[in-house]
Amino acid sequence: MASDEKVFDMKWTVEQQLSAWARGEFFRLFPGIPPGAGIEVVVATDDAFGDYQCNAPMSLAKTLRMAPRVLAERFVKDAAPSPLVASMEVAGPGFINIRLSANWLQQHLAAIALDERLGVPLVDPAETIIIDYSSPNIAKPMHIAHIRSTVIGNALDRMFRHLGHRVLSDNHLGDWGTQFGILILGYRHFRNPDALAAEPIQELERCYVASYDKAKADEAWMDEARRELVKLQQGDKENRSLWRTFVELSLKEFNRIYDRLGVSFDLVRGESFYHDLLAGTLERLTEANLLEESEGALVVKLEEEKLPVCLVRKSDGGFNYATTDIATVLSRVDEFKPSRILYVTDERQQLHFKQFFAVARRLGVNVQLEHIWFGLMRLPEGTFSTRQGNVIKLERLLDEAESRAFEMVRTSSPDMPEEQQRAVARAVGIGAVKYADLSQNPQSLVTFTWDKALALEGNSAPYLQYAFARVASVKDKYRERFPAARLEEYPIRPVEPVEWLLANRLIRFPDVLSRAANQYRPNLLADYLYELAQVYSRFYQNVPFLKAEEGVRESRVRLCELVARTLRTGLYLLGIETPDRI
Ligand code: ARG
Repeated sequence: MASDEKVFDMKWTVEQQLSAWARGEFFRLFPGIPPGAGIEVVVATDDAFGDYQCNAPMSLAKTLRMAPRVLAERFVKDAAPSPLVASMEVAGPGFINIRLSANWLQQHLAAIALDERLGVPLVDPAETIIIDYSSPNIAKPMHIAHIRSTVIGNALDRMFRHLGHRVLSDNHLGDWGTQFGILILGYRHFRNPDALAAEPIQELERCYVASYDKAKADEAWMDEARRELVKLQQGDKENRSLWRTFVELSLKEFNRIYDRLGVSFDLVRGESFYHDLLAGTLERLTEANLLEESEGALVVKLEEEKLPVCLVRKSDGGFNYATTDIATVLSRVDEFKPSRILYVTDERQQLHFKQFFAVARRLGVNVQLEHIWFGLMRLPEGTFSTRQGNVIKLERLLDEAESRAFEMVRTSSPDMPEEQQRAVARAVGIGAVKYADLSQNPQSLVTFTWDKALALEGNSAPYLQYAFARVASVKDKYRERFPAARLEEYPIRPVEPVEWLLANRLIRFPDVLSRAANQYRPNLLADYLYELAQVYSRFYQNVPFLKAEEGVRESRVRLCELVARTLRTGLYLLGIETPDRI
């Protein structure tokens, strides 16, 4: 059957399609525009004026020596029509407001309703992206920084994967270093087997601290610790086996947390994995003429970058954190040929990453290296241990989240079987903790509070999970009332302004997702989902669904279904589950 119906191009997002059209028309109408000038169409800042807008006249005005308004007016008058655009209007000093074509919107909604990916194009070409995240240290409890790294890193991992990139998540454990000499001694002399069985990491840490304190006062002890370290590094059987025990005990606890958080890694290669490459790394630095001696140590000077020197071998001959990271990046580039490597850690490591990125570039590493840093989150009283003031008892926090959520679910769904209530409480509690983290700009300092994290109104996981469950139930109710109806055969046709608004939000999902991933800001996706849920609730309160006339009713039910799918996919990409009922 021949059809002149427009075939929907799901290879491009709406912003990409509009921008490509605007760019083409600008260049055609104004030959003086320098190639490469940024011309983009973005979502409108205010729904009252349009669906999308183009601010290019403002930036082009100078080069073209024309008033922005004149430029904008000429564009509106003479640009060849786009199937996406119904009308345009010049506003303010020279913005172009764009209204979408109702016919195009209707067809686009039909296309995304049929599309498993909700209109999210698969990137082409796909990149290989390594994401180095979580990365806690052996024999130490996870610090709040590791939790944030885990939650943010995992959201980036899911988003990039969903866009179609080849992602390798790598948990770069701190499992090597000078602390192991001290720990081996402490473990031999001070360990308490019962405590070790009950809370292994805590006990290992206690042994370490006791041994460290002793070493500070006792030269001989310190020397012995050094000898144990050398033995370990040279492969001594007994010390290797002790070290393996520390790694296994720690990983068992870490894995319990990862399971609860729904996080898994493609690679778990600790620093130890690169140990044998350190000497070779030093050779490469020597060959590249980068090393200088400074007070017995070897450093790379980074004057050009205006950075302090990067220490790669200490005066006692030991390698350090930077050396390992240099060896690691060389090995990763060699083995996986990535185009980007993302490192997710807290803000205190900014200098380290600047320095080692600079050294890596001088060694010829030309992949994109990004340090994605975040501020530390303040937690409620009682989640910190007293000794160090910054060690979070994460499992306690997760337990509390689940038990608070359980109370919520018991109140909202008293008739639900308890086992199901517990499962829902898990999704809600863990989701609340993650979302509290992900919904903030990673680089701002935030304070975690239970009231905010578990709020049923406001920007929280439970709010969105409830919204999802409510929207998803609309279709079930429809099915009950109209079991024989062929829902999918009715068009989705937004008529009322609030329906248009909702449709307009739905089609933004692909653009938001790609921005959130590429700007490394999961909070952009969180904000979007929150806004979608709010527009939905206006829609829900203002128009009848099941009582509407045939056709209108089906269109609305299908819109609901799209909202539900978008919320579910978006939350999944943030690592948050969506139970069908709450
Ligand atoms: N283990 C380090 C820490 O706890 C984080 C490692 C981050 N990744 C890296 N490649 N340096 O501070």
